[in-house]
Amino acid sequence: MCGIVGYCGKKDAGNILLEGLKKLEYRGYDSAGISIIGESSIKTIKSVGKLNNLEENFALSSISGNIGIGHTRWATHGEANLQNAHPHLNSKMTISLVHNGIIENYLDLKKELIAEGYEFKSNTDTEVIVQLIDFYFKGNILNATLNAVKRLKGSYALGIISMDNPGELIAVKNNSPLLLGICDDGFMMSSEISSIVEHTNKIIYMDDLEIAQLNLNGKYKIFNYNLDEIEKEIKIMDLNTNSISKNGFDHYMLKEIFEQPHAVKNLLNKRTIDKRINLSDNFFSKEEIEKFSQIYIIACGTAFHAGEVAKFAIQKLTGKQVLCEIASEFNYNQKFVDEDALVIFISQSGETADTLMSIDEVKKIGAKTMAVVNVENSTMTREVDKVMYCYCGPEISVASTKAYTTQLANLYIVALDMALKLGKITQEELETYVDELYTIPEKMEASLKDLNVYKEIADEIKHEKSIYYTGRGMDFTSAKEGSLKLKETSYIHTEAFASGELKHGSMALMEEGTKVLTVLTQEHTLNKTASNLEELTSRGAYIYAITTYDNEVVSKNSKKIIRIADTMDIFAPMLSVVPSQLIAYYTSLAKGNDVDKPRNLAKAVTVE
Ligand code: F6R
Repeated sequence: MCGIVGYCGKKDAGNILLEGLKKLEYRGYDSAGISIIGESSIKTIKSVGKLNNLEENFALSSISGNIGIGHTRWATHGEANLQNAHPHLNSKMTISLVHNGIIENYLDLKKELIAEGYEFKSNTDTEVIVQLIDFYFKGNILNATLNAVKRLKGSYALGIISMDNPGELIAVKNNSPLLLGICDDGFMMSSEISSIVEHTNKIIYMDDLEIAQLNLNGKYKIFNYNLDEIEKEIKIMDLNTNSISKNGFDHYMLKEIFEQPHAVKNLLNKRTIDKRINLSDNFFSKEEIEKFSQIYIIACGTAFHAGEVAKFAIQKLTGKQVLCEIASEFNYNQKFVDEDALVIFISQSGETADTLMSIDEVKKIGAKTMAVVNVENSTMTREVDKVMYCYCGPEISVASTKAYTTQLANLYIVALDMALKLGKITQEELETYVDELYTIPEKMEASLKDLNVYKEIADEIKHEKSIYYTGRGMDFTSAKEGSLKLKETSYIHTEAFASGELKHGSMALMEEGTKVLTVLTQEHTLNKTASNLEELTSRGAYIYAITTYDNEVVSKNSKKIIRIADTMDIFAPMLSVVPSQLIAYYTSLAKGNDVDKPRNLAKAVTVE
């Protein structure tokens, strides 16, 4: 999704902005641009497509200056072209603005401005904001911005520069992430820490309805919308630039797949001490858990699949029913959550608009909220009662891998903690589960040893039009995650079916050579799923099995078997997903796709 960056300081802004934008590339974009305050005018360059185009245009220009803003745009309002690319300027070309978010009332505002004689060059909601600031401008860019943003409905993080106030950069936000970096030579602003971390570890997280004035003289002020100055905590972050490098791997996706054993181990070390669960004292107590009338899990995409696995685990370990819903569906349907419910949200980025919207909805009802999140200090972490971080480091590849397995590890810990507190398992039983969890990293490593099998499968399936994934119960959830991973990286149509549901329609799709990946890790469904393989092969399907078992029926019906290490059934999704991730990775490579940045997708989905 769109990313914004800004700089105001002693150095030349151009390269800092371009480098900052490169760090935001992975979020997904289709055009980019920068504006810099020059000697006598604002200089703006935009380009469609990859950032290299912008860099080339910048290299050919002689633009320099100490204050500037930059943007990567993921088209929402209007196609990806130069007119719609940010920054957007007012008609007099004296104010330039970059925007991340969506303005819902932009058409009304546009009509109002047109009636005042304003003309528009783009189809974007963003151009309306800059013209509105122009409308309110009486010599002070801070005041004009404030008056304009008070009229906006929707989400925004904005960076604004003005030729009439050439010594300042304005940053303001509502419902879109924005943070400031306090550097030795000045200030940075960005949608995320990755573009700031090279310059400073001193970070201010801006909250909604706050506006910052960053000055070239080294001073800054942050105000609320009543223009009362507010003190903000400067956080010292310990992120280093290595954690966002490829570290010798060809792609972030592969690096992140390989980081999983360490990431899971690191998480377990934080969540357990001497085989006891170590959640902070302020985690849910036995009394609170007993009082939960319902447990809901809400998330999107891969995070939703982690939620579906957790549903099985919590139900099995606590006997409590869990309802799992996709955030975008939950938001617009009838709600049965009550104030005694616990609602667990899961998100890598902590910025997913649909999930944030669900949190708002649930908070209105008064239910207890908890979030499993990777990005520290992200918006979600500030909205819920309790937060569990994944601590797996920045996940750069758009396709989520290590966030998924560390989300799972966290959620297993939550399930075990609840079960122990409710008296559903003894401390001894808990230790058996924890011991087994500690074996997972090594068992994951085993799936990372021989990569040839994944490359061979990738080669066999790369020209397919459709590929299917099947499984039952937890394996169905793993099938859905495998299917999503393959679809988003390979652009091949994939779909996951519950094995038992095949006969109710989808079996009609099977013909000679149809490729089917199946997951078999659950003892109680093994024989049933194995029989489904017979039915599939009878119709000509070509089966690849990801399994913990050495089963005769499975062997007879599968062209290739990927054996994963044995574990307790409830933990198997952490292992069965690794081959699926690698098959997706190598299929994307075999097709020549941009594996870390699949087309049309964004890493942080900050619009609904
Ligand atoms: C798939 C993927 C997406 C995300 C989804 C939610 O590989 O990455 O499906 O899982 O967009 O994002 P977060 O977890 O940031 O809320």
